Amino acid sequence: MQDSLDIERLKNHLSSLIPHDQFHYFDTIDSTNCFLKTQPDSSSWSLCLAEEQTAGRGRFGKNWISPKGVNVYCSIRLMPPSLSPLSGASLVCGLATLKALSNFMPTSNLHIKWPNDVLYQGHKISGILIERQTKALIIGIGINVNAIMPLSDNPEKPWGSIYSLTGHLTDRNALVVSLVETLSQYLDHLWKKGFLYFAEEWNVNDYLIHKKVKILIQGTECVGFARGITGTGALIFEKLNGEVHHLESGEASLLSFIA
Ligand code: BTN
Repeated sequence: MQDSLDIERLKNHLSSLIPHDQFHYFDTIDSTNCFLKTQPDSSSWSLCLAEEQTAGRGRFGKNWISPKGVNVYCSIRLMPPSLSPLSGASLVCGLATLKALSNFMPTSNLHIKWPNDVLYQGHKISGILIERQTKALIIGIGINVNAIMPLSDNPEKPWGSIYSLTGHLTDRNALVVSLVETLSQYLDHLWKKGFLYFAEEWNVNDYLIHKKVKILIQGTECVGFARGITGTGALIFEKLNGEVHHLESGEASLLSFIA
């Protein structure tokens, strides 16, 4: 299996979605999301891939560790059609990533953790950072693919790579093609049909459903149970005292498997 990204092959495979002049590739870059932020508006999708990020960015100002030549660091910049529903876009990007990954590993072990982390056997293998500009959305997807990394034992932050969890090397070129194509298909459905179209797919893959979680609400840590999502993609969170909150954004850590 080829172990570096084959840019000519990727450009050709994705040419119907990404014009050649909107396809950007770097051996090393600070962050693929940051690069696309500097690009002029374009009616077509722009893509940025890198072998390594020196300042990879995660959600909530965290770093995204981005070692060279082993993982996928991919950002896409697009203009959502005007008046199209944006609610749930972040969750739909997570579902698209899960779907793309299911071509490479057993689906039954893959889950989505609100809002858009993909887990394999309970370990996070992919994270997504979505940023908004005036007209554009930048969707940055990191997937731990062939990195040799110890599985973290921290029950609140279990990490892994496809390789560390399955023992198999994955063709990153095929994964990038599958990821971009699936994302295009899923976002198209979102713009045309709205988030409810994905409700069933979310429910089937929901990792947190009825699990005990810790969550930050307005700066305060709260413990309770995840009870699924609303029709717009908010997390339904039931506090231990029975109060129910709908969270539009945030991060949930698993506390235990008590149902
Ligand atoms: C998270 O789970 O915290 C989101 C991680 C997002 C990482 C990706 S890697 C490609 C793109 N460029 C970045 O700097 N971040 C995103």
